[in-house]
Parts: sequence; structure tokens; C-alpha cells
Amino acid sequence: MNPIIAANWKMHKTRREVEDFFKIVLPNASRAQRSIWIAPSATTLMLAAEQARGSSITIGAQNIYFEPQGAFTGEISGAQVADCGAKFVIVGHSERRRLFGETNLDIKKKINAAAHHGLIPLLCIGESLEERNSHQTAAVLKKQLTEVLDPSFEGVIAYEPVWAIGTGKSATKEMIEEAHGICKEILKNMCKKGEKIAVLYGGSVTPQLTPSLASTKNVDGALVGGASLEAQSFLSIVQGFML
Ligand code: PGA
Repeated sequence: MNPIIAANWKMHKTRREVEDFFKIVLPNASRAQRSIWIAPSATTLMLAAEQARGSSITIGAQNIYFEPQGAFTGEISGAQVADCGAKFVIVGHSERRRLFGETNLDIKKKINAAAHHGLIPLLCIGESLEERNSHQTAAVLKKQLTEVLDPSFEGVIAYEPVWAIGTGKSATKEMIEEAHGICKEILKNMCKKGEKIAVLYGGSVTPQLTPSLASTKNVDGALVGGASLEAQSFLSIVQGFML
């Protein structure tokens, strides 16, 4: 599987900052021979899609609402982000679950809405520190996958332990290999194309961590937050997956 290196910019970057990022990343992107995905804020989605046009970089959204249209003030539909050039959408990020109360049912509807609009869903799952400490990691991952996915699911999964996101404390190689193995087994049993579903790791990924991550069994790429904001740092991570 060709690794996917995905950037989640969260609530960062103005238009000017997006242009500055692409000035540095674009000349290097074609040489990368890796799938580079970038999820900017909705306000710079269209600009990022224009910047990436003709390159090997794929642009996506960080969120959609599951209804196709209507009186949902502040929300954005799958059709609208696709119209701006998005090809994928992050769904179920732990920040959306925790800060905005998203449930597995909401997430399931969002995945279906994404598929309906031709967007690849990038589903985020992962356990909290309490769940890990009480040996519930496998059960949590199973619940987050089985309550959300249909046998027809086609998309990408990101394993992101909640305690590793934005904390500078990434999971160990052994933890990642084990959790990804659990996800792959569930996906194989649940989804018709389960064996082809990429499982990315996310949670305090840095250029320093990348060589170890890239050589970890069951890892098909990375979902990167903080370290994706700066162009050189993001390029180092992409290059780390080429070694
Ligand atoms: P982080 O974020 O790399 O800053 O930990 C990852 C994510 O939230 O997807």
C-alpha cells in the first residue's frame, strides 16, 4: 500500500499562510511519490484546491454535516465541500467527539453523506487514557468501528489515541502495531474491501518519530496535526515515509 501522509490543519492558517505553505511544498510534492493529503479550514478549502491543482496533492475537508442542505446555520454539506474541490473528509475526529458532542450515530451519517457526495471518509478512532489504563483499548476500537461502518465502507481509518493528540506524547511502536492489527482484523471481517483499507497513525507525529513509524508493521501512513503546519516539517514527515 502506498503510504498516505495526511495533514489536519485544524483551526489554523489564513489565505496568505496557505499560499506560503504551498510555495514550499509544491515543488517537492511531485518527487515525493507518496499520497499527500491536506485538510485545511473550510475558509481556505477552495484556495488550497486551486493551489494543489495539477499536483499530486489531494485536498479534503475537516468536517461536514450529514444533511444535504437546509436550515442548519453554520454547517457545511458534503456537496458544498466537494464543490470547493475536496476529495476526502475527516470524520469523527476526537476533538469533534469531545468538544462538539458528536456521537457514533452522527459519524455514521456523516460517512454515508461523504460517500453519497463522492468524498473519501477518513474516519478517526482511538481510546482515551482511562480506557487504555483499564485495558479497554480493543473494545473501544471495536465499538467505534462496528457502530459506524457498513460492509460497503470504502475509506481510510486513522488510529489516534486521544491522549497522544497534541500532547507531544506519541504512542509507542508496540502500541501502534497492536492497535492497528486490531483495526485491520475488524475491518477484514466487517467490510467487503476490508483488506484494502489503509490505517494511518495520528497523535504527536513529528519528523523525528517518522522513521520508526514508517517501519512499524500495520502502519499505512500518518495523520499529522501540529507538525503539518510548517512546510519543512511536513515535508520531512513525507520524506520519512520514503526511506
Ligand atoms: P497532532 O494532531 O499531530 O497535533 O497530535 C493529530 C490530529 O489531531 O489529527
